[in-house]
Amino acid sequence: MPDFHHLQHDFKLWQLNLRLSRHLRGPFRREEDGFIYASGALRYLKDVEKLHMQLFRKPLLGWLTWVYRFRAAQLMTLLLSPSGELVGYSLCMFNAAEASEHIVHEVYVGIAPTYQGRGLSIKLRRAVAESYNHGHLSAISTLAGVDDIKALRSAQKAGYAITKFSAKPPAHYLVHPLTRRF
Ligand SMILES: CC(C)(COP(=O)(O)OP(=O)(O)OC[C@H]1O[C@@H](n2cnc3c(N)ncnc32)[C@H](O)[C@@H]1OP(=O)(O)O)[C@@H](O)C(=O)NCCC(=O)NCCS
Repeated sequence: MPDFHHLQHDFKLWQLNLRLSRHLRGPFRREEDGFIYASGALRYLKDVEKLHMQLFRKPLLGWLTWVYRFRAAQLMTLLLSPSGELVGYSLCMFNAAEASEHIVHEVYVGIAPTYQGRGLSIKLRRAVAESYNHGHLSAISTLAGVDDIKALRSAQKAGYAITKFSAKPPAHYLVHPLTRRF
């Protein structure tokens, strides 16, 4: 049976995410080299969950799924093929420590295996950072496992820089500064 304190903790995080993301960005959709970069929509959640399971071999955390059910447009970004097929996704969230510094966290980025290795994760991350630029956020952060050279390079090439080392799990903590307008 799930323990009560965990449920309470998850519920508080869910509430925090819904509150802080309410007016985070407007919807967007743009095409580049035949691919579409777009803010998320609830109808893609099942496909995102499926691709996430394929890439990470673990389901998305339950409370996070509930965040994207309500805030796909604000916190989920999609990479689509011209026919509308899901090619990649980026998922952002707020955690209590970073939220007070106006930082959003890019918790997962995934590109479907057949589309990997052509720079799409870099473009997707750039599109995500751009979508939050000139709003009320000061930065976007991400983690790259110490052995995950692909994730590290993809973040660095998208404009993130290593600022800290996180011990548990061993990972580089990277930050992409944003221009805060209000
Ligand atoms: C990590 C991931 C998102 C990268 O996506 P991608 O679109 O294939 O990566 P890109 O083509 O944008 O490559 C990014 C950079 O990584 C490096 N890279 C790519 N493939 C690499 C490889 N096989 N070995 C070493 N470096 C590699 C390159 O420096 C590349 O930049 P370049 O093409 O300008 O040289 C993708 O592999 C993925 O979905 N993996 C599973 C999920 C995951 O681990 N996500 C990251 C943690 S949240």
